[in-house]
Amino acid sequence: MSPSSGPVRLPSLSLETRRSIERARRALGDRRATPNLAWVASLTGARRRELDAVFGELDELLPIEEEIRHRHLGAGRPNYAQIRAPFDLYAIVRLLRPREVVEAGVSSGVSSAHFLAALRRNRRGRLHSIDLPTRQRGAVLSARESAVAVPPGKESGWAVPETLRPGWDLRLGPSESLLPRLVRELDGIGVFLHDDLHTPEHLTFELDTLRTHLGAGSVVLADNTVWTGEAFPAFARTIGARVARRGRGDLVGLRVPSPPEL
Ligand SMILES: C[S@@+](CC[C@H](N)C(=O)[O-])C[C@H]1O[C@@H](n2cnc3c(N)ncnc32)[C@H](O)[C@@H]1O
Repeated sequence: MSPSSGPVRLPSLSLETRRSIERARRALGDRRATPNLAWVASLTGARRRELDAVFGELDELLPIEEEIRHRHLGAGRPNYAQIRAPFDLYAIVRLLRPREVVEAGVSSGVSSAHFLAALRRNRRGRLHSIDLPTRQRGAVLSARESAVAVPPGKESGWAVPETLRPGWDLRLGPSESLLPRLVRELDGIGVFLHDDLHTPEHLTFELDTLRTHLGAGSVVLADNTVWTGEAFPAFARTIGARVARRGRGDLVGLRVPSPPEL
């Protein structure tokens, strides 16, 4: 993926912070990764000064971003289909400082790496990830295979730098059986990301499974909602939450209202 040559247009942030974002985006090599400040603010309640501070930290992530890009390139994935909002995920976890972060859908681990980097900076909290890997069949990804397929000889999370791995709870298998087991082990969930099987039935299953483990202020995110129809808005309605859509894309989120209507 070729980094954009143009400057990041985030007028409400300081020039210094905008430069940090631009450097991080180039290091990761994903021109789509410009964060959406309004979306992050609506999910966290953060003000401009706090956003400036957390996005200003992205310079510290440059070695991590470079390593993720090199791992993708080394596996022949210049156009990898990763989450479009890695820096938003980092900022959400930095701002909310959750104890437990859960994600369904890892693949190479771009979302995982950014959650892990934020938790490490927070010096508290843990990431629990679930992935049923899709395996690449041959040495080269064929046109008929999904870009999320794990290359031969690698495992889910293969692009996550070693420095971020200590303490990472990565569970391989179907979310249908692993997620109910995982949530029973946790004392609440601060942030959840759905990025695995994008069907209305599966997203509804995951949201229903989480429901009683969320608290006021928990944030629930779902990617590729263009394929999951009414599942996310219907869940939001049942808990009295507002759906926050990230720009014109189909990555959405909600913040569980206080008091939670669970
Ligand atoms: C879009 S990728 C995840 C991308 C990742 N979040 C990132 O930022 O790079 C989706 C992943 O979910 C996995 N998956 C599909 N169905 C699943 C299921 N039922 N349970 C768990 N994982 C599943 C796929 O094999 C794939 O690894």
